[in-house]
Amino acid sequence: MHSIPIGVLGASGYAGRELCGLIAAHPQCHLAFATANERRGQTFRVRGGSRVHDIHMIGHDEAPLGDAALVFSALPHGASVEWVGRVLAAGAKVVDLSSDLRPGRGGSTHPLPDNVPAQVPYGLPELFREGIAESPVVANPGCYPTSILVALAPFVRAGLVSPDALVSVAAASGVSGAGASPKAELLFAEVTENFRAYGAGNVHRHLPEMTDSLHRLGGSFDLLFTPHLLPVDRGILSTITVPLAAPLADPMAVLREAYAHEPFVEVTDALPALADVVHRNVVRVSAVTVQHVRTPTLLLFAAIDNLVKGAAGQAVQNANLMLGLDETAGLPL
Ligand SMILES: NC(=O)c1ccc[n+]([C@@H]2O[C@H](COP(=O)([O-])OP(=O)(O)OC[C@H]3O[C@@H](n4cnc5c(N)ncnc54)[C@H](OP(=O)(O)O)[C@@H]3O)[C@@H](O)[C@H]2O)c1
Repeated sequence: MHSIPIGVLGASGYAGRELCGLIAAHPQCHLAFATANERRGQTFRVRGGSRVHDIHMIGHDEAPLGDAALVFSALPHGASVEWVGRVLAAGAKVVDLSSDLRPGRGGSTHPLPDNVPAQVPYGLPELFREGIAESPVVANPGCYPTSILVALAPFVRAGLVSPDALVSVAAASGVSGAGASPKAELLFAEVTENFRAYGAGNVHRHLPEMTDSLHRLGGSFDLLFTPHLLPVDRGILSTITVPLAAPLADPMAVLREAYAHEPFVEVTDALPALADVVHRNVVRVSAVTVQHVRTPTLLLFAAIDNLVKGAAGQAVQNANLMLGLDETAGLPL
């Protein structure tokens, strides 16, 4: 059977390596090229399916962009959008993992290349599947927003959230969420056996894409997002406090009905944990009614692997749609 050539820009990074493993094991695609910046010329060993694969990195400028049917850009925000333009000019489709093309552009004011549309589909298929398959370029959502939006969306769409509420999210991410570039605050001795918040005060780059998406879903409430750094390699657990417009008898039924036909959303009575989701392309969600408070309030929990459903897996899910393949092809359930 014809195998589809795929390129990965930024393949030496954490998201890029995860992409290389998924494409190497994909039943209908193969890796045409993988690029790096400072680590060009190096070979990385990645796990894909039940095997390990040696992936050689070439420089971004050496990449034969037009040889690929689709290219993933796993470059840092700011640097990515220029390469999205180059990929489109070479005639390939592109999934951008950075925040450069997401709603609000992560606060970036970096100019867009002339051939890159200002608005592209936000590739969170479970909520906004329409338009992804037809578009030559898709913005892959951030890792935190994927967990938070999937948990909140059914309640927002149904008008169950108090309109003047402050919805508060405390979310903790494993260290791979910060990327592979060395940073003093991410040294082992700083991170291990420690736990702390960062980006406090509602200033995280992921906020614009979340508020935009919640407005699209019909929400008018405020969102307060406080990320934390968890001393594990991968995984995100988001805990979301939701003041309700009125008491809700069975919040789990709302989640079950919304996601009954979504293979990558697991609705679970047991509170989700990172061990349930790592290395899998799933969001695992649960809801609990809060006791002993005067305002009817819900607690939502969502767990994902930041590098899979939060990055590379979701990007392959979008690519499958854009290439006319089964949405689940090559993705670890
Ligand atoms: N990590 C996550 O959990 C996650 C989740 C969702 C989305 N994302 C997004 O995915 C993208 C990649 O994230 P990551 O965590 O994989 O980052 P990373 O580990 O830091 O990797 C970045 C990649 O881009 C290359 N690069 C670095 N600076 C560059 C520059 N100025 N110009 C061109 N290339 C450059 C690096 O090459 P060298 O290594 O050779 O220098 C590497 O291949 C980012 O936009 C990030 O926001 C990440």
